[in-house]
Amino acid sequence: MAKVLPEPSRTFGEYLLIPNLTTRDCIVANVDLKTPLVRFKKGEEPALSLNIPMVSAIMQSVTDDKMAIALAKNGGCGFIYGSQSIEDQAEMVRRVKKYKAGFVVSDSNLTPENTLKDVLALLAKTGHSTMAVTEDGTSHGKLLGIVTSRDYRISRDSEDKKVKDFMTKFDDLVVGHKDMTLKEANDLIWEKKLNSLPIIDDEQKLVNMVFRKDYASDKEYASALLDEEKRYVVGAGINSRDYAQRVPALVEAGVDVVCIDSSEGFSEWQYDTIKWIRDNYGDSVRVGAGNVVDREGFRYLAEAGADFIKIGIGGGSICITREAKGIGRGQASAVMEVAQARDEYFEETGIYVPICSDGGIVHDYHITLALAMGADFVMLGRYFARFDESPSAKVKTSKGYMKEYWGEGSNRARNWARYDLGGKKELSFEEGVDSYVPYAGRLDDGVAITLHKIKSTMCNCGSKNLKHFYENARLTLVSAVSIKEGSAHDVVLKDEFNQ
Ligand code: IMP
Repeated sequence: MAKVLPEPSRTFGEYLLIPNLTTRDCIVANVDLKTPLVRFKKGEEPALSLNIPMVSAIMQSVTDDKMAIALAKNGGCGFIYGSQSIEDQAEMVRRVKKYKAGFVVSDSNLTPENTLKDVLALLAKTGHSTMAVTEDGTSHGKLLGIVTSRDYRISRDSEDKKVKDFMTKFDDLVVGHKDMTLKEANDLIWEKKLNSLPIIDDEQKLVNMVFRKDYASDKEYASALLDEEKRYVVGAGINSRDYAQRVPALVEAGVDVVCIDSSEGFSEWQYDTIKWIRDNYGDSVRVGAGNVVDREGFRYLAEAGADFIKIGIGGGSICITREAKGIGRGQASAVMEVAQARDEYFEETGIYVPICSDGGIVHDYHITLALAMGADFVMLGRYFARFDESPSAKVKTSKGYMKEYWGEGSNRARNWARYDLGGKKELSFEEGVDSYVPYAGRLDDGVAITLHKIKSTMCNCGSKNLKHFYENARLTLVSAVSIKEGSAHDVVLKDEFNQ
């Protein structure tokens, strides 16, 4: 006989936190948001932690290499989307692992045989007046010289003049070595009054350029999430179909953690995927799994060996799974039940398996509620899609600037591996929509405000770290009437008054 769970399915907007005593040392500056990313044994440190409890969604419109770098700078982790070829995804991972802040790959390159006409055409195309001259005209060829706008006069020089006849030759250049730190490169730029510094390797091949104009933006990111070699930490989505090919390519590219990306993860395919990874890599490859919404799903994946488990079915902003298939659960109910299952599992086995609340975060305070309810971190799609650093287009509409945001189960992404259950390898019906989200500027600025709000609420609740916050959180359900009381009411807003 069908069973009906005694409690209704509830979501974040139905709860509020009740403050606890705030002690004098409980101020925003003292709050630590560090949280485990992968499983660990009682008394041990996790092999990977996050410095802020935020990861970006495994989606075409959310996480490419640019997003992963921007988020890792701020202490979180991007999961590069898997609905692309193995080679392209591995290349994105490689770009994150190779990225050094302030060291850019030269995008304007010439050979000595090019002409002034080519220089002007390149300038028009890239807008960059500093060009590297390499033997083969590529960004990593042997460096032979540099051309800047000070090397030619359009009014006097013939357009046929060869680059080799007016470039600043290698012997007259100040160059840096690839082992230099950014600080050393910048010091050299200031000392020698340069605008740019080419960085070369032992064979005189061009590795990167460092520009004086980038100095101000290359600020230090105190919370950056780095691996042991000081490279940014990056994740990637995998599926339960081509893992035997995809995982080795991602590992070879340097990925730190992978995650099986599925709309419903309580399945034997996820078990097989995790087992294959353990058989081939032991614990050296870290793998998240999901999504689940209850204790049974959590148990199954925890026992299969998942390093973290994602929660959430049908709550995503672009998601129509509940309408299409009638499965899912309110995100708050799902998080609280799974958090309890995680704690019981820890009690029984001494193994802590972190959980991630995925989807359905509308307001910043929903992140805080998810953490209070026991999520170790949250995965966000809509939130990150709004920023400059997401891969999608920024478009001007009658309602202001928007960024495009589409679901992995929409016709646009056609990520059949995420939705198709062992069938024909195609998306039989849509489970997601194609949409716009209001443009929100730079990720650094948006994340800083969100984190400040989370920390500030934690202080109201008397907590300086996430463990204490969860263990001491007191939540209350809100009635429809009290929700109305929560926003401005019974006043005429001046903005509306003046319209
Ligand atoms: P959001 O943060 O509310 O926008 O939700 C993002 C989450 O929605 C992702 O991390 C996925 O778990 C989920 N998701 C992504 N694409 C789709 C889709 O097309 N249908 C249903 N869920 C999706």
